[in-house]
Formats: sequence, structure tokens, C-alpha cells
Amino acid sequence: MSGAFFIYIYIMLALYGLIGFPLTHSFSPAYFKMKFAAQHIDATYELFPIKAIREFPELLKNNPALAGLNVTTPYKEAVMRYLDEIDKVAEEIGAVNCIGFRDGIIKGYNTDALGFEKSLNPLLKSQHTQALILGTGGSSKAVAYTLSQLGIGYQKVSRDKTEDVLTYKELSGEVMTHYKLIINTTPVGMYPNVDDLPPIPFENIGEQHLLYDLIYNPEETKFLALGKARGAVVKNGFEMLQLQAEASWEIWNQGTETIDPD
Ligand SMILES: NC(=O)c1ccc[n+]([C@@H]2O[C@H](COP(=O)([O-])OP(=O)(O)OC[C@H]3O[C@@H](n4cnc5c(N)ncnc54)[C@H](OP(=O)(O)O)[C@@H]3O)[C@@H](O)[C@H]2O)c1
Repeated sequence: MSGAFFIYIYIMLALYGLIGFPLTHSFSPAYFKMKFAAQHIDATYELFPIKAIREFPELLKNNPALAGLNVTTPYKEAVMRYLDEIDKVAEEIGAVNCIGFRDGIIKGYNTDALGFEKSLNPLLKSQHTQALILGTGGSSKAVAYTLSQLGIGYQKVSRDKTEDVLTYKELSGEVMTHYKLIINTTPVGMYPNVDDLPPIPFENIGEQHLLYDLIYNPEETKFLALGKARGAVVKNGFEMLQLQAEASWEIWNQGTETIDPD
């Protein structure tokens, strides 16, 4: 085979990837590799575990074949200042989890919000008008944005007391009765710490409640298991994860026409 053939293959292989740190148990590479294989797409998906966001420009320089990136903890906010443009929704949320490259422009998007909305919506009942969001990190912003879009009031819960948040100690029976939708956006209960759970009064959870955990590993966190045992409807973060990945793929390929080899 000629050298020209190898150059041809190299040019054809679009590169996608994930930046974050650490990236030990990431879902995305396996998901996209399966997708590429199933749909005969000439592309590869790699992990880029950069230790500091200041390494981002160097990463771009060293990987000219980059066609799309996902962004995870702890860079969803910090990456924004390195981008040429930010989509309106991501701007409003204040976090980017997807980066597209088009016509030399590097643009940030948020597909977490869309994934959360599409996976939550079918479960909503008339009593789910007020929500508690556990945690105040990157993903809590996408969740809060979505709830606002859906007309659901929300209250954030944090370990630290600040003006706009409740602490876990302030979650009285009355509070728990008022907020019938509870969303865990903390990493508490995630593998390998599967016995951990957010310190909420589970005795006040009942059949009217909907408990949503952004965690997808394990499939059923202790937070969800205790809620289920009290009759609540429960949902893990797996569908959200799949939906945000698919939304990223659509962004990376929007406007791309399929070229018929014949
Ligand atoms: N399913 C999906 O598609 C999806 C998408 C995004 C994220 N996630 C998952 O969501 C979780 C959070 O992600 P993130 O990016 O928002 O993380 P993050 O930015 O680190 O924020 C998590 C928040 O949780 C709270 N927290 C952290 N450690 C805690 C502890 N030991 N006890 C109680 N609260 C604690 C903190 O809020 P306070 O300091 O205010 O307490 C923190 O700001 C992760 O498990 C991630 O895998 C899933």
C-alpha cells in the first residue's frame, strides 16, 4: 500500500473526544465507538484527561482533526473563555458540555439541559410543580434552566449556607411535602461510593414524589432505592446521558451532507 493511501485514511478519520479530569469511568468513548461501528462512520473518539484547562489551546493545536468535543467535570464553566462563540442556551445556563468546530469557529453548546428535559418530561405529573435540586455544581445549572423552561419552581440545596440555598439540615417535613420533585445533581452515591446518599429525610418521601438522580453508575443509587422503597417514582441519569450524547452528535454534524461515493 502506498504512503498516499495512509495519508488518505488519516485525513478521513474525524476525531471526537472528551475533556475533563479525571476520566476514569467515562461512558462516551464506548458509546460513540459502538455508534461509529454500527453506522460505518470513519471516526474515532478519544479521552483527553487534561489536568488544567490552560492545556486546552495546546490540545487543539496538537489535534487538527478534531471535529467535536464533549466537556465534563471540572471544565464545563472554565472552558467557556477559550471558545470563539457560545450558543444562547449554554450562555444562559453558564456551562458548556459540547464543543463544535465549524468554518474555523470553536463554539460551545449545552446538551445536558436537553437530555434532562427529554428524559424528565414523560414522568411529570400535576403535583410536580416545585423541585429541590441537591447540589450547586455545573449540572445543577442545566437542571435549573430546564425547570425554569418547564415552569417548575425550584430550590437549590447545598452543604454550605448562602443566601439563596437551603442546607440539608433545613429540609423539614414541611419542605419535603412542598417539593414533590427531588433531583440529585451531586456525585454522592456514585460508583465506587455506592453506599453514600444525600442526607435528606427519606421518611417524608411518599408516592407523590418523583426522585431523579443524574448518576447512572450504579443503575440504582441508594438515593433512588430508598425513594422507591417509600413508593416514589424514580429515574436514573442514563437516558439523559444518551440523549445529551445524541444531541452532541447532531450539533457536530448539522449541515453536513452525506457524500455519495458513487
Ligand atoms: N446523566 C448525565 O447525563 C449527567 C450529566 C452531568 C452530570 N452527571 C452527574 O452528575 C453529578 C454531578 O456532576 P457535576 O458536573 O454537577 O459535578 P460538580 O460540578 O462537581 O458539582 C456537584 C455538586 O454536588 C455537591 N457535592 C459535591 N460533593 C458532595 C458531597 N460529598 N456531599 C454533598 N454534596 C456534594 C456540591 O454542591 P454544594 O457544594 O453546594 O453542596 C457540588 O457543587 C456527577 O455524578 C455526574 O456524573 C450526569
